[in-house]
Amino acid sequence: MLNWDEYNKEETQVAPAIKNTAPEAPKHVEPVAQLEPKAETTTAAVEAGSRAEAARKAMETFDASEGVKELDEMHNGRVQVDDKAMINCKADLNQLVPFKYDWAWQKYLDGSANHWMPQEVNMTADIALWKSEDGLTDDERTIVKRNLGFFSTADSLVANNLVLALYRLVTNPECRQYILRQSLEEAIHTHAYQYCIESLGMDEGEIFNMYREIPSVAKKAAWGLKYTQQISDPTFQTGTTETDKQLLRNLIAFYCVLEGIFFYCGFTQILSMGRRNKMTGTAEQFQYILRDESMHVNFGIDVINQIKIENPHLWDEEMKAEAAQMILEGTELEIQYARDTMPRGVLGMNASMMEEYLQFIANRRLTQIGLDEEFKGATNPFPWMSEIMDLRKEKNFFETRVIEYQTGGALNWE
Ligand SMILES: [Fe+2]
Ligand SMILES: [Fe+2]
Repeated sequence: MLNWDEYNKEETQVAPAIKNTAPEAPKHVEPVAQLEPKAETTTAAVEAGSRAEAARKAMETFDASEGVKELDEMHNGRVQVDDKAMINCKADLNQLVPFKYDWAWQKYLDGSANHWMPQEVNMTADIALWKSEDGLTDDERTIVKRNLGFFSTADSLVANNLVLALYRLVTNPECRQYILRQSLEEAIHTHAYQYCIESLGMDEGEIFNMYREIPSVAKKAAWGLKYTQQISDPTFQTGTTETDKQLLRNLIAFYCVLEGIFFYCGFTQILSMGRRNKMTGTAEQFQYILRDESMHVNFGIDVINQIKIENPHLWDEEMKAEAAQMILEGTELEIQYARDTMPRGVLGMNASMMEEYLQFIANRRLTQIGLDEEFKGATNPFPWMSEIMDLRKEKNFFETRVIEYQTGGALNWE
């Protein structure tokens, strides 16, 4: 394996060799002018009439000044920190520094430090359990199928929203850098769900179509989609109070509700299964995904709050009421999903415990964007979920994960 010590060693070996040969250079030194190749010989000949010749001719007459002038007119020269803004910014978006939004850059670094791939997780025990006749109850099997059904397409909806809508409309390079990182993570999540579905030998058509065919899954997907439609139109532009609010609605729908509420019933169910030593590979995939998702939510909340700070006129009473309504609608749909996926108590939980948990999460989402709690006194019946999301533990966890796999160790679920 390459390492930098070897690389440096090689360099230091080469360096003296060059020095030693210097005194042995020929005594007769040609005048510089004679050593320099003539202009005609600096480029290799290309065949007359070839594509290479056409390209060369085009570049001989290419004038870069027009493009540079256009960039200058568009962006007003070198970027100063104060030129930067979350939305409707005219500063050059290709200049990452000077940083203004350090929190976004830090999340990009943290996300990159937590990189993982689905194939790193051992699925052997899951395959045996899934295929055995009496390994799982019918209710447990429903939970696995419904959640793979919802998530296998939900992460694709999130990714589409990022690359087809948000990336264009968020106008600073630090946040865009994180959005690119998040987009990759969403692709990895979709890969992880596909990897589980394939490993378990599930009916792919059934699972991937649940977001259209199973009402409790379809409602969540449809609710999110309606907030993408308008702003993913390539002609959509921010810059008026109404269009800026439309972008804000999209951010609330995707970060506070889709990623911030719609993922939580499913994650809790699958992770609870893992803690009971069932479907541990699938649960481990979900655990990695949850850690990514909690950072996505935190990023989105920061984006929303920063836009509010820079554009206080957008956060009027009407918008506040609308934001609260959206979060509560999402909570209601997720409660319906909990009832549908848990008609009876299963895995030490039931739909009413999940309802309280979702109310607890909804309160958190409301207060994170500066709104009042809705469900007074709601508490967290699953404190172990917060532990899993704890970022400091996340770091330790990822630092040790390779060793854990090498020794065949599984995650510790308690
Ligand atoms: Fe995701
Ligand atoms: Fe996400």
